[in-house]
Amino acid sequence: MHDRIQEELQMNETYDTRNEILTLKEEHNATILAHNYQKPEVQDVADLVGDSLELSRAAASLDTEVIIFCGVDFMAETAAILSTQKRVVLPEKDAWCPMAHMITADQLCDLKRLYPEAAVVCYVNSTAEIKAESDICCTSANGLQVANSLSEKQIIFVPDRNLAAYIARHTDKEIIPWNGYCYVHDRFTAQEVLAARTEHPNAEVLVHPECRPDIIDLADFVCSTSGMGRHAKASTAREFIIGTEAGMVYRLKKENPEKQFCPLSKNAICKNMKKTDLTKVLQALQTLQPRVTVPEDIAFRARKAIERMLNVKI
Ligand code: 13P
Ligand code: SF4
Repeated sequence: MHDRIQEELQMNETYDTRNEILTLKEEHNATILAHNYQKPEVQDVADLVGDSLELSRAAASLDTEVIIFCGVDFMAETAAILSTQKRVVLPEKDAWCPMAHMITADQLCDLKRLYPEAAVVCYVNSTAEIKAESDICCTSANGLQVANSLSEKQIIFVPDRNLAAYIARHTDKEIIPWNGYCYVHDRFTAQEVLAARTEHPNAEVLVHPECRPDIIDLADFVCSTSGMGRHAKASTAREFIIGTEAGMVYRLKKENPEKQFCPLSKNAICKNMKKTDLTKVLQALQTLQPRVTVPEDIAFRARKAIERMLNVKI
């Protein structure tokens, strides 16, 4: 009985917080963007849930005064770089992507000196300083098209070694990778894939290109998080093993209630993506803080790399 009362109280509280969020959103002419790995309740109040490319495109084109970015630091920075007139708020100031911080601008400049002929492609999971030192940006949805759009034969690719390896396998360009990685995707093991296949023999295995090459070799499809969404809808398969952050499964189940989705590992959790909750979204709308800004000299150069990517056809 006590548990039921607690549960009801919590449901009422969530209901009230949700309503306050929706009211304040209207008042501030704000848009809530959420990455596919965000908690279910955060995804449910968002105007758009998507992958990094979709969210960057939205940030660039939205007609709104405030963007509440439910994701991690580099995503909010990208939105701030693309939309100087808008106020970009990251509800949890400590939501950061460890991979984005695995290379510094000085390290990238050293690499550029070693390979003066190479173009520099940075994965969007990078700091604004790295984007400012790059020729073009890419996401997991367009990395290959971005690499192939360049005239240079040699490409420095930072910071993700796994996405670099994936692109290197599918292009004639010489890819010079940086040794960064995402701890969530890099931890998947071949044993986990084989065990999942034994348990779900009819399932399709979808994995993210941030996974290691041995995992990619065992998969049926390799795609960005929203690519997984599109594939799951279009496929005739009824069951899917999802090789990315486990939060992705919520959206897939919601959009395809008649299909089964199983995370490749329940432990594949990005701690920083999960730091944002409804209370923090509400506080962000009440205070319009913490605001994310990028110094204009860096933003100016980073913007060129991001806009160049947005012009690549996929
Ligand atoms: P996408 O959603 O762009 O595929 O990226 C995955 C990711 O790890 C974002 O941090
Ligand atoms: Fe960074 Fe990996 Fe988390 Fe994405 S899932 S934000 S790449 S640590």
